[in-house]
Amino acid sequence: MSFTVVQLSDCHLLASKDERLLGLDTESTFEQVLAQCLSEHPTIDLMVFSGDISNTDSILPYQRINDYLPAGVETLWMPGNHDECQLMLDVFGKDCLTDKCLGQWQITALNSQVVGKVHGHVSDQELSRFKHIIEAAPKNYHAAFLHHHLMPVGSKWIDTINVDNAGAVLKALEPYPQIKWLANGHVHQEHIAKYKHLDLYSTPSTCFQFLPNSPKFAVDESAMPGYRSFKLFDNGEFETRVHRLPIADLGIDKNANGY
Ligand SMILES: [Fe+2]
Ligand SMILES: [Fe+2]
Repeated sequence: MSFTVVQLSDCHLLASKDERLLGLDTESTFEQVLAQCLSEHPTIDLMVFSGDISNTDSILPYQRINDYLPAGVETLWMPGNHDECQLMLDVFGKDCLTDKCLGQWQITALNSQVVGKVHGHVSDQELSRFKHIIEAAPKNYHAAFLHHHLMPVGSKWIDTINVDNAGAVLKALEPYPQIKWLANGHVHQEHIAKYKHLDLYSTPSTCFQFLPNSPKFAVDESAMPGYRSFKLFDNGEFETRVHRLPIADLGIDKNANGY
């Protein structure tokens, strides 16, 4: 038996569908990525939205994204640096930022948002919650999603806005071989890292991508929007891969130096 988990991240939806971000129609690319995801995975056991869902303080993007989802799909949501966490909780409910059990697997949503800041932090309280979930089901296999990245991706500008206590968090998770992987958004690119027994996956944005290995902010016009899928097996093994939209001109503003 296996379970399918999909991760959509960094949608950056705007208050109005007519607005553009860096010249790009973030609503349209989100709709296309979601449609591709649903057609490639007729059965989805869990859909995870790993932050920067909205790019505004309006509740409208959260309400619209809720309307796009197929009825009955299980979801987890966590805030990114661009989100208003309370609006997210108002639309998706307080249980959106908890954990879900899929057979032998338990998937936890971790909040790494620091209100008013771009970087992330995993609080002692959040770390304790994760450890408690593992210790309450020590024979399960565990994994977690959070918005910010724990391992550097190689771009100086974005590696200074990671989880600021990443070293301590990773050290605290070392004693738990049950944790198979952690996955994040925020970096708008695919990246894979390893820390001890932990696999760490960064997932592309559903809108624009950042240029890998760039010392300063730069958009990668050649990289298409996408999402990540995980196939989880009962014996603790798993498969994961990134899926992207077909190559197209997204109309990105080439002179953008921030967002
Ligand atoms: Fe983002
Ligand atoms: Fe972010």
